Amino acid sequence: MLASFTDGFFSVDPKHGFLPIAEPLAKLPETFSGLQSLIDEMPILKDDGSPGLLATEGAFEKAVLVLPNYLSQVQTEKDPFVLAALFRAYGFVTSAYTLAPSHHSFVKTGKYGKAHEVLPANVAQPFAAVADKLEVYPWIDYHYAYSLGNYQKIDKSKGFEWTNLAMAAKFSGMDDERGFIMLHVDINQYSPDLVKAVYGIVENENRDDLNRDVHLLADTLNKMNDRRRLMWEASRWKHYNDFRVFIMGVKGNDDIFPNGLLYEGVWEEPKAFRGQTGAQDNIIPTADIVSGVIHYYPQNQLTSYLMDLRQYRPMCIQNFFKKLAEQMSKKPLAQRLIEDDNQIGMQGLMKAYEEIYLFRNGHWQFVQKYIMQNTAYPKATGGTPITSWIPNQIKAVLSAMKDLSKAMRSTPEFSMEEWQEGYDKKVKLLNKQLEIVAVEAFDPEAVFKLNLELGYQDF
Ligand code: HEM
Repeated sequence: MLASFTDGFFSVDPKHGFLPIAEPLAKLPETFSGLQSLIDEMPILKDDGSPGLLATEGAFEKAVLVLPNYLSQVQTEKDPFVLAALFRAYGFVTSAYTLAPSHHSFVKTGKYGKAHEVLPANVAQPFAAVADKLEVYPWIDYHYAYSLGNYQKIDKSKGFEWTNLAMAAKFSGMDDERGFIMLHVDINQYSPDLVKAVYGIVENENRDDLNRDVHLLADTLNKMNDRRRLMWEASRWKHYNDFRVFIMGVKGNDDIFPNGLLYEGVWEEPKAFRGQTGAQDNIIPTADIVSGVIHYYPQNQLTSYLMDLRQYRPMCIQNFFKKLAEQMSKKPLAQRLIEDDNQIGMQGLMKAYEEIYLFRNGHWQFVQKYIMQNTAYPKATGGTPITSWIPNQIKAVLSAMKDLSKAMRSTPEFSMEEWQEGYDKKVKLLNKQLEIVAVEAFDPEAVFKLNLELGYQDF
């Protein structure tokens, strides 16, 4: 059985999925008004259309130096929603403060300059204190800060479509930043059904119930993919660099942070934490664990990185993953379906693999366009070498598909011939792309064009 996984802000269950249990706070309580006004004044473009502090070199750093130190107020705070909003605020201030010089250097020269290496005590101390309370690292993350804990519905009576979502805190303040990160929240509107399917797969003994939930898994991933594809319009790829630098991490980004970051008044030694990234999202990891793709991950640095990123999530999410992995390892889903010669169940699982593949291949196209065509800087915000690593996990999905197919037969609902045709194209596409990126000075557009040629263009 899966237990309850909550910290008072998130609760992983079939009602909330991976979204917060209620809308995150728009603003901090009055006690922290100095911090709130810094957040409001910070974006390159403010809500009223005028330039904010990050628009002028040195202006944000100056404003940070006069921020009161709220350490004692943070230490006595208990409300999970206020703690999440405080973590978000300090996460934004820390990244904006340290990375402002890198941003201004990029604007002037097209190259990221070095970041500030010392975080002043008035930010470092309360940030470390709130991170400690939430049991996470003191660096901007995906859950509490940049993405899931940062949305505001524009029309409260409407849904989670990205067009109806605004950011409580922002770096660029431009629409491409909002579209980029709010689409992640939008995709998660279906996460309650994902969690429902997962609970069902773990708990159902009965074959029909199990099949219903395996198909719910595939259908939910299909809906998520439909939303994911909207990235191309939600955030224009040519504008990714407008905000990208601010979500860079310290670990793995040695050119920007050659000596780590010193948290003044907290630790004697500099620290290095990983940057905010969609790789901290929970949809694909959950799908990988429940479907068994995780058993096909290669043993390499990317897999270690993805596992390292587990620690960059709220404790309740980490515990959910641990418990789920433990349950699934008792009897992997594919094995259960194959031993039972459950063709309907296998078809559902194959559809789920197809969606995981489409998610990853579409996502690989994001990387080709938003990053590879935009910049020569070879490190992702999470600090990974981009071109060689992303395709690794696509291979894992293809291997899982291949193994499952051996136990499957054609039925009126599912043609193995068609499946084989699609599979061969997928293998060809990836192999050709890897051939191109293996050459040092390759053409990213050539990698991208192959998607269209082989019928897998994402939009
Ligand atoms: C323009 C859009 C996007 C870009 C440019 C992008 C870029 C990247 C990059 C460079 C990585 C490599 C690891 C790192 O260092 O962070 C990564 C990993 C990852 N991203 Fe994204 N991403 C985008 C959108 C998304 C979305 C919408 C999601 C899901 C909601 C997502 C989920 C993931 C996952 C799960 C990984 C881990 C690798 C894997 O399991 O295949 N990304 N992304």
